[in-house]
Amino acid sequence: MLKAITRAVSRSLADCELTCLPREPIDIDLAVAQHTAYEHALESLGLRVISLPEQPDMPDAVFVEDLLLVFDEIAIITRPGATSRRAECDTLAEAVAPFRSMQRISEPATLEGGDVMRIGRDVFVGVSSRTNTAGIDELAGIISAFEYNVHPVEVRGCLHLKSACCSLEDGRILVNRRWIDAAPLREYELIDVASDEPHAANVVRIGTTVLMPAAFPHTQEIVRRQGLGVCSVNISELMKAEAAITCSSVIFE
Ligand code: GLY
Repeated sequence: MLKAITRAVSRSLADCELTCLPREPIDIDLAVAQHTAYEHALESLGLRVISLPEQPDMPDAVFVEDLLLVFDEIAIITRPGATSRRAECDTLAEAVAPFRSMQRISEPATLEGGDVMRIGRDVFVGVSSRTNTAGIDELAGIISAFEYNVHPVEVRGCLHLKSACCSLEDGRILVNRRWIDAAPLREYELIDVASDEPHAANVVRIGTTVLMPAAFPHTQEIVRRQGLGVCSVNISELMKAEAAITCSSVIFE
């Protein structure tokens, strides 16, 4: 059974890190309700959700994806480029300990899970404001032992690699090519997001269904035309914190 580690929204979410978006007021009660609905959507798609308690003084702690990578063979605790986020790691390490042996990314490397897109044995890693080349090299050094091939991808104009592209898990990638150098993805079929929805590429496919933000109906239609189902969730308040679908969970077998 697929599992998803999630963490409750921090009451301090409005103090989150922002890199490419302007700060807007966040309705915390609505953010909490939307996050609960997101967890229910994961459950409705067959996942077991392991929900961790809020970290009240860590505004971005709901975005668990950035701290933890889970491969079939090993879990990796990252070292976020955002220094404010480094204290988030320890409770995630505790949460994944029953399921995987673990390694940690170490100084001076930085790496955030939002920059890591795994497709089979290919692992694409964004070179971004949060992930440096030392982080990519350290990750490659750990997972090459398990025969993964790591490919750096230049990210420009958005926070993370997965702000710009996510795997549809069958050789197709949903992508906004304006935000990355797509050349390393050349072996895959690229499906462009709607031109008026640049943030729409951040999605998760589970079975035959793609979990997507309600804010992107045109890209939802593009995904349906690819023969996939769409599960739509309203995450407007989490999106104001520069997050989307992948950021709020770590999904693994
Ligand atoms: N607010 C999400 C992040 O910057 O990590």
